Amino acid sequence: MLTTRPRGTADILPGQVEKWRYIENVAAAVSREYGYREIRTPVFEHTELFVRGVGEDTDIVEKEMYTFRDRGDRSITLRPEGTAPVVRAYLENKLHTGPQPVKLYYIGPMFRYDRPQAGRYRQFHQFGVEVFGSHHPALDAEVMAMAMDFYGRLGLNDLELHVNSVGCPNCRPVVRQKLQEYFRPKLGELCVNCRNRYERNPLRILDCKSERCAGLAREAPTIADCLCPECEKHFHEVRQYLQDLGISHVVDTRLVRGLDYYTHTAFEIMAPGIGAQSSVGGGGRYNGLIEACGGPPIPGIGFALGIERIILALENRNKAIVIETGPTVFVVIAGDVPAREGFALLGKLRAAGIAADMDYTGRSLKAQMKYAGKLGVRFTIILGGEELQRGCVVLRDMKTASQREIGVSEVVRELSGLLEQCKSG
Ligand code: HAM
Repeated sequence: MLTTRPRGTADILPGQVEKWRYIENVAAAVSREYGYREIRTPVFEHTELFVRGVGEDTDIVEKEMYTFRDRGDRSITLRPEGTAPVVRAYLENKLHTGPQPVKLYYIGPMFRYDRPQAGRYRQFHQFGVEVFGSHHPALDAEVMAMAMDFYGRLGLNDLELHVNSVGCPNCRPVVRQKLQEYFRPKLGELCVNCRNRYERNPLRILDCKSERCAGLAREAPTIADCLCPECEKHFHEVRQYLQDLGISHVVDTRLVRGLDYYTHTAFEIMAPGIGAQSSVGGGGRYNGLIEACGGPPIPGIGFALGIERIILALENRNKAIVIETGPTVFVVIAGDVPAREGFALLGKLRAAGIAADMDYTGRSLKAQMKYAGKLGVRFTIILGGEELQRGCVVLRDMKTASQREIGVSEVVRELSGLLEQCKSG
């Protein structure tokens, strides 16, 4: 137990963490360009927020939440998603009283007690955005375009954007009635969960993962058949804007999302080739959520993209993220030279912004050179007793295996110049 992490979690080790940092930096850059500002909310919230926000009948609330009573006997839940917390923060901090729309983004861990498998974890990470205060269909298109732009910058250009309209409270009763009529004769064949869903929320039957229910739902009426004129118009305009932006997409009239707050536009982004968990991101409009959380009737829209699945998709497509890490210079000290000499030089290099390191385990000169090679440094500075007496050190280019003597006082200037050349060349 002591040396085993909980199921469904991961350690992000050096070597891997640089990929994460890179993806997070791209997310932050894209967000800034599209006018989003970062928000950080707590990792845990009052359970009620998710019950109300995400929906009582969803898999997330029914069986996937990490919920516990704290020492003050409050019911607390580790956030399973970011939308409800951001809505809560928007209302609590009265961001709705300022100029609208408010565009926010977040990156962070989410928690769901799901069955772990490739691409599905119990602690996973999302990059998400939420926009509050506009109904405009251009915004729906912009949010989707932004997600695709983000993937594109990572080199993921073959992802599929699936779009649907899931209607609004006006069309829902019609869909509900049609679905109940369709499933009534099949009730006995549905799984236990779907039999419950039949009364409470028959739309969720369309999202059932069991093969049997999926088969029975194949001929079911779609939401598209029941959209009210307003939803139809909105969806038509969203698609028009997507076309104007040149964003290719597939209309998937069977697309329903696993969270109850969606209205109008809903979308998912799929990465073929990464296995069963191919949805690398999803989102949509939620025009009723802010009101359901106790706020005014303000519309919202957003997405969340799973970072682990993005990494899987990058690996599956052999897209390497090459990031320089570790020191670029290693200070090698010959046996008779006091370590203090090396230590002092190290300080000077670092003060000049050069990533440098030295040995702290008493390695021989040869072993230090070997270790420097393993670290992948570009240059070594070798401090030998005889050279130092002449006020010199040896500068070795590890790539070309060439070396020359330079004056001790020139080391920082010389290395700064060489590293600058390496960067530009
Ligand atoms: P979601 O579809 O539940 O939506 O999650 C979004 C993405 O998070 C998924 O497409 C997937 O990439 C990733 N994800 C979900 N669960 C897991 C898991 N167990 N392991 C690894 N990755 C996972 C939401 O969370 C909504 N809050 C999105 C949204 C924002 N809608 C509007 N605004």
